[in-house]
Parts: sequence; C-alpha cells; structure tokens
Amino acid sequence: MIKAITGTKDILPGDIPKWRYIENLVRSILEEFNYNEIRTPIFEETRLFARGIGEETDIVSKEMYTFEDRGGMSLTLKPEMTAAVVRALIEHSLHKKSQLNKLFYISPMFRQERPQAGRLRQFHQFGAEAIGSNDPYLDAEMIVIAHDILKEIGLKNLTVVINTLGIPSERESYKNELKNYLKNHYDRLSSESKRRYETNILRIFDSKEEQDIEIMKNAPLLIDSLGKESIEHFDIVKNALDKLGVKYEIEPKLVRGLDYYTHTTFEIVSGSVGSQSALCGGGRYNGLVAQLGGDDLPGVGFAAGIERILLACENENILNVPDDKIDVYVALLDKNLNEDSFILTTRLRQKGLKAERDYLSRSVKAQMREANKLNASYVLFFGGEEYKDKKAVLKNMESGEQTDISIDDIESVVEKIKRG
Ligand code: HAM
Repeated sequence: MIKAITGTKDILPGDIPKWRYIENLVRSILEEFNYNEIRTPIFEETRLFARGIGEETDIVSKEMYTFEDRGGMSLTLKPEMTAAVVRALIEHSLHKKSQLNKLFYISPMFRQERPQAGRLRQFHQFGAEAIGSNDPYLDAEMIVIAHDILKEIGLKNLTVVINTLGIPSERESYKNELKNYLKNHYDRLSSESKRRYETNILRIFDSKEEQDIEIMKNAPLLIDSLGKESIEHFDIVKNALDKLGVKYEIEPKLVRGLDYYTHTTFEIVSGSVGSQSALCGGGRYNGLVAQLGGDDLPGVGFAAGIERILLACENENILNVPDDKIDVYVALLDKNLNEDSFILTTRLRQKGLKAERDYLSRSVKAQMREANKLNASYVLFFGGEEYKDKKAVLKNMESGEQTDISIDDIESVVEKIKRG
C-alpha cells in the first residue's frame, strides 16, 4: 500500500472544521489590524533561503527540501515565509506603492526534521510581516496579534518570552566576548557546540546537552552589552505590552533559529505540548530586505504552527467546534420518483440551502439514520400519499413538528427552512 510520506499528514474532512475555525479567526484578527493577505509559490530558488535564513542555520544546512529541476536549477520547498515575502516585496516594488506593507499568510511549509509530536516535515504556518518601519510599536503589535489569536482560540497554558538581539555591530562585538568566555570551556563543550563555536556561536545557547547548559549558565549575555538605542527600542516594546496587559518573560538566552533577526525576538510557548513547545516565534529583521537585494527597509513579523496549536488544543481539551449541520435531507419514499427528488434537491441547493439526498437506494429507515448523522435541521419526505397533491411533508427535526408543503413553490419551501 502506498502511504503518505513520513512527517506529512492528511487533513481529513473530520479535522477540517477546526482548521477552518483557526484560519477564519486568523483572517479576521489580522484584518482588524489591517494586514493584507499574500500568497507566494511553494518553491523558490534555493539561494533565496540560503541567503535569507543563513547558511549556518539548522534549517539551511540540514532541513531543506532541495532538488534540481530538469533545467538544472536548484529549487527549495519553502521552509518559512519571511524570505519569500521579502522576495515578493522587492520583485513587485510593493514598498514604492506603499511605504509600509502589512502582509499576512497561511501556507504549508517544509522542513526535513525528525518527525515527532508537534514536529512535521510538511506543516502549516500562519504569520504576518510588516515591512517599511522601525517603529517598536510594530514589534509590540506582532506579539499582541499572536497572543490575541492564541487566547481567542482558548489556549490557557501560554508564556510570552521576549528578548532583544540588538543590531549586527553590537552582536559582532558580543560574539567576541562570548568566544573569549567559551575558550576556557571549549574542551568540555559537546561536539555540536564545538562546531557552532566556529560557525554560529549564539546557537550554543539552544543546546539541550547537559554539559553545554552548565557552561552557558555563566556566559556573558548579549542584552548586557547593547547600546542605548537598542535598549530604548526594547523598553518601548515592553512598556506597550505592559499597558496592554500582555504578560511576558524576558529570556536573554532566547536565540532564534534564523539568522536575520535584529532587536526584538519573541516566542509564545505552551506548557501543554511537550518538547516542541513554541507555538509561534518572530521578531524584527532590519537587515533582511537589503540582504536580499532590496532597499534598506526594516521589517518585523512572526509565524505560528497550526499543527502545534491544534495539539495544544487537544491536550487542553478545547476547540470543540460544533459538527457541521445540513439544512435539509430529502428522504425519498417512492423509488419511482428518484429523478424528481434529484431535481428538487438540486433546486434547493441552487437557492442556497445545504441539502442532501440518497444516492444508494436506501430504505426510508436508513435514510433517516443518514439524516441524523448529517445533523439535518429538516427532513423533507418526498413521494408519499400527499405527492398526488404536489405536496411533501417537511419535518422539523428539533421540534418534531410536521407540515405539508407545496413542492411546486420552491421559494416558499426555501423560505420556511431558512426561517427555521
Ligand atoms: P520558526 O520559529 O522557524 O520561525 O517557525 C515558527 C513556528 O512554526 C514555530 O513556532 C512552530 O510552531 C512552527 N514550526 C516550525 N517548524 C515546524 C515543524 N517542523 N513542524 C511543525 N511546526 C513547525 C519562522 O518560520 C519565521 N519565519 C518567523 C518569522 C516571521 N520571523 C519574522 N517573521
């Protein structure tokens, strides 16, 4: 039997109501904050992500789905959206039409990670990017949007974690300081951290190895060596969150897995999902647009993983979206009227009702079972005694009330069902 690829998941009809609920909520909240949707292709030139996310990151060095097409071009299934959104902004000169572009997306992403609960190889993100302003209130806005969405879903066990990474020059001199500190502990570092010492030293803070954690406990912190402007930027973000009542923890060791960040970074973690606890992550990326060949435009954004959010919902036993209902089930009592019942049902649908009928020549009893399974508000019994007077019996499934209605007058049947 051919099965879905490890780390990918079918989203079956029974799961769809939850997905739609989240997607609709995301759209409605992001539209309130005046973000416009953008959709970009599933694959891009590999060098976009290599240059945008950073060659030394785990995503680029180990996790991308990269392949050559028949023309010999190296393509990559998008592992994240920020680089793709920036590419589209530059390519279509969106910044010339509007100085600040506030964009959002809902899209599948691809990373070849080791699959586990909350970690897939094809997963879905929703996210937002605001490109064209260095205003710290946009950093706060991103945190508030992400937090509002997760709270509106009903999640409880959430912690907002924030940090600042300052500007590149501050980070470069800090890296030297960290290098000096780690020199004395180098021999005790894990082999992965030894590699990172050379390539991406800040990521040693992310190590889960006992010996690395021990060493990093006393490491100097970037936040302590930032200049006045960076500190002020961060203070404004914190004050705004305080005023809006968004509780947060400052985590100076929060280094994110992508290289483009400057100033504010954040994650919202859930205590309900095990080790893959970050439901969303984001931050400011003031150098990225220029890095990808565009003007020197600042940007900030976040992305959240829908599968992880659904896992948290399941574990908190929330998001029990009510089952779908249909308006009317047309039950056929006389098999000779099969065509008439099909025509009638189709007309009801064309007038805006969600309607179903039997296509399996089932008994009336089995049709009623189906009507109940579909949660029908009404059943229209078609083809009984009253058919000779061009009538059918309409039963309200909640009250049990039955009325004869004229089937020639489709409008009034529809009216009656819609009124409830
Ligand atoms: P990220 O932290 O790599 O950031 O991913 C954001 C979220 O996507 C994670 O918090 C997680 O919920 C979800 N996610 C990531 N990898 C997986 C996976 N393998 N399986 C399931 N869910 C996953 C970014 O992608 C940045 N582009 C966020 C951003 C936007 N920064 C600025 N703008």
